[in-house]
Amino acid sequence: MKEYNFDKIIDRKGTDSLKYGICQEIFGTTDIKPMWVADMDFETPDFIIDAIKKRLSHPILGYWEYWDGYYDSILWWMRNRHNWTIEKDWIIFSPGIVPALGLCVMIYTEKGDDVLVQSPVYHPFYYAIESQDRNIIRNSLVEKDNSFEMDFEDLENKLKKGVKLMLLCNPHNPVGRRWEKETLAKVAFLCKKYSCILVSDEIHADLTMPSFSHNPTFTSAITEEEKANIITLMAPSKTFNIAGLTTSEVIIPDLRLRKKYIHYMHKILHMYNGNTLGAYALEAAYSEKGANWVDELRQYIQFNINSMNDVLHNKYPKIRTYNHEATYLPWLDFSAYGYTHRELTHKLAFDCKIGLNDGMIFGKEGENKMRINVALPKSELLKALDKLDYL
Ligand SMILES: Cc1ncc(COP(=O)(O)O)c(C=O)c1O
Repeated sequence: MKEYNFDKIIDRKGTDSLKYGICQEIFGTTDIKPMWVADMDFETPDFIIDAIKKRLSHPILGYWEYWDGYYDSILWWMRNRHNWTIEKDWIIFSPGIVPALGLCVMIYTEKGDDVLVQSPVYHPFYYAIESQDRNIIRNSLVEKDNSFEMDFEDLENKLKKGVKLMLLCNPHNPVGRRWEKETLAKVAFLCKKYSCILVSDEIHADLTMPSFSHNPTFTSAITEEEKANIITLMAPSKTFNIAGLTTSEVIIPDLRLRKKYIHYMHKILHMYNGNTLGAYALEAAYSEKGANWVDELRQYIQFNINSMNDVLHNKYPKIRTYNHEATYLPWLDFSAYGYTHRELTHKLAFDCKIGLNDGMIFGKEGENKMRINVALPKSELLKALDKLDYL
């Protein structure tokens, strides 16, 4: 039985929402339906709001420390949702996944080192590297049969030349791939073989489509040495629409790598823990109730993707869709219209009045492509798609 109502339309204009608030800066207009940043137009579930309210019923919000229930909820979630048994000691707080990506680059590499990404990829991966004067090495994903694959020959050739760190996106944003165990095992093998630390951003782990389950990179790796070379980044933020609570977890099983990370967090940044409300939200999210909510959400997103694909295939067949396995952010190809990329972005924003993520921010592979956010009520999604008439 369905318990949650994802059809509910909530007006976010004039609130502090980034998605709605900075359209002028992003698109050059405020007259636009924002379907860009990975933030959902669904309510944060009531059991999370209740947990925050409960904490607020105590009048002091002073310094605090983690309690057993916080850790237990993370252990429970990893075991029950991702079939991964982790240890409490492996968990380190992070205010977000992007800060953790930046810190990994800072801690484990030096200026001038090579850091590898698989393009097109979530744009802050590039910023984490180039803003710290490291070199971006691109191992482009290859389009095949309406999907994307890794190019292992190219990956090995690049790793061989001394890449120090690889930032892996698993599941992959923006191409919507849920990587298979064998694929991940190969990546872990190659990284270990060429002494390249593997950082696996798994923020979208909970958001696979209902017929797919997520494969953590750690559990996909074969040997203990390969596993020890992996750092995993996870969070309830994307899953439960609580990014504003800036609460994520970095999971580092290897003691040597973990000590280095903790040294930076504790001694240099003096960052032991985050926001107490975020921790209570995390505890409420990583629960039986959270699991039920996410399963309903995943179904709703799948329905939205099916509905979108129906509309695109029937009414706008020039827009190419891809097989979509994870995230609420499908990748679309508009090449068949024959517009330049500039014309395309202008037409989408000013004629169609829909605000999609410009494909080029994810890398040059994103030319004539866009990323659409379908985490919104279906009626709103269909209304927005109708505006593609003006393309
Ligand atoms: C792959 C990936 N990593 C990280 C983030 C954001 O992480 P945070 O907001 O926790 O810094 C996103 C948001 O869309 C993402 O898609």
